[in-house]
Amino acid sequence: MPAFAVSTPAQTYEAIVERGVLRRLREFIPPRAGKVFAVTTEDVWQWHGDLFTEGMAGREFELLWFPGGEERKRMSSVEAMAERMVELGGDRSSVVIAFGGGIVNDLGGFLAAIFMRGVPVIQAPTTLLAQVDAAVGGKTGANLTSGKNLVGAFHQPLAVLTDPGVLATLPEREYRAGVQEVIKCGIIRSPGLFELMHTCSKHVLTRDPEVVERMIAESVRIKCAVVSADERESGLRRILNFGHTIGHALEAETGYTHFLHGEAVGIGMIAAAHLSHLAGSLGSAARDEIIEAVERYGPFPDLTGIQVESVMGRLDKDKKAVQGTVHFVLVTRIGETEVVAGIEAAAVREAIRLALR
Ligand code: GLY
Repeated sequence: MPAFAVSTPAQTYEAIVERGVLRRLREFIPPRAGKVFAVTTEDVWQWHGDLFTEGMAGREFELLWFPGGEERKRMSSVEAMAERMVELGGDRSSVVIAFGGGIVNDLGGFLAAIFMRGVPVIQAPTTLLAQVDAAVGGKTGANLTSGKNLVGAFHQPLAVLTDPGVLATLPEREYRAGVQEVIKCGIIRSPGLFELMHTCSKHVLTRDPEVVERMIAESVRIKCAVVSADERESGLRRILNFGHTIGHALEAETGYTHFLHGEAVGIGMIAAAHLSHLAGSLGSAARDEIIEAVERYGPFPDLTGIQVESVMGRLDKDKKAVQGTVHFVLVTRIGETEVVAGIEAAAVREAIRLALR
């Protein structure tokens, strides 16, 4: 099974995509590590706690419960877990394992980044979205009321352990939301992956193990290569934000409870496809292919009542806005993108309107 290297100035590590890799979790904990803390949620523990315990092979650990939900991805949750770590005897030799979905991976990584000024983290993602995106790349963080991931730190993990087997119990809605991030990887960097998602939806939706493993491996390969080339998002890494600028605005506008992250990204990608076309970068056939592929993995939450102007107002609060200028990732053809600043507000407004129809 494949392993992909991420190489950054801070850390070189592997993202391993392997059925059953969690059974050998203990191998990835440094021999001299002190207390091990697993950040997780009750539902993940209910489904996969036995697997985790088996993987720890007798090594002791403490659980840090996160109640779940994008609206609780806040500094207050990180602070509560840090207090608990101190109560339980955590110190600079501690290791954090983020065992759960994207929110747990982001928040657990952030906890590790700031606990005693930084302890190592191992990312053990249990949702498709976390496996193909959140667990890889070292961006960690929490939300503010004014926007998503507006506080955080770069903190690369010791390893990313992706076990496709855990997806068997993933609720359908979460699975489909994760598929949107896979489609994104295809659109920005891999025509072959896009083709797979576009034409093999039956296998994707029935979670055919071979197809799921191909989807994950190709997405992780892309993410690792992009992060290795540009850890701090000064150039290439921006392409990973395709669909996210408007997606984040939709999440913030609806109070983080209406959409799953991947669903908001799906609508954001539809808007970005329209915008790419309106800006003259993308032909109408490719635009329609993107929209079709995204919609095939719906349904999406009700969009009624979301005001275009309110979403517009959220865009410059996105952390990717630099000195008030929003940069958009546009597609030029499937597998290729360009990052463009200063797009006319009227085109952005129209793209959002078309996506919310
Ligand atoms: N943790 C997600 C990323 O670095 O992109």
